[in-house]
Amino acid sequence: MSSSLATLILSSLFIVSFIVLHLFFPCRADVGTAASYSPPYLPSKCYGTEATEFPSSNLFAAAGDGIWDNGAACGRQYLVRCISAEQPRTCIPDQSIQIKIVDYAATAVSAASASGTTLVLSDKAFGSIANTTAILINIEFQQDGCFGY
Ligand SMILES: *[C@@H]1O[C@H](CO)[C@@H](O)[C@H](O)[C@H]1NC(C)=O
Repeated sequence: MSSSLATLILSSLFIVSFIVLHLFFPCRADVGTAASYSPPYLPSKCYGTEATEFPSSNLFAAAGDGIWDNGAACGRQYLVRCISAEQPRTCIPDQSIQIKIVDYAATAVSAASASGTTLVLSDKAFGSIANTTAILINIEFQQDGCFGY
């Protein structure tokens, strides 16, 4: 086998495995937007009136259409940090939180501070990473459990 053929095969393999990894391990960090919502939080699309499914830390969120995944998003954990907002100094520096998806933004009982966002954070979660006077922030988020991938 000529070395240029070997190189071609190796680089094809590399490209194919790169694509496959990204399809099956959607763990890289993404950027999106987040709004906030306030109580009442129940009933939720994921858990009905089961308050026990909500983390006691009150760090949770409703999923926007981009990540709702037809309900498969329920119970997923995301690491979230604020990266910017329209108003300077809105983000609390070096602050990231872990949140659990408990609801679907489009049908949540309480209205979100802004519509069409990737995540709608509980007021506690929102206030942990940004100034609560903001209605919309830009976020970086990553599904948890990816072990550094
Ligand atoms: C939050 O934002 C408001 C309005 O921009 C500002 O007046 C206030 O000082 C900010 N709070 C903090 C803690 O930075």
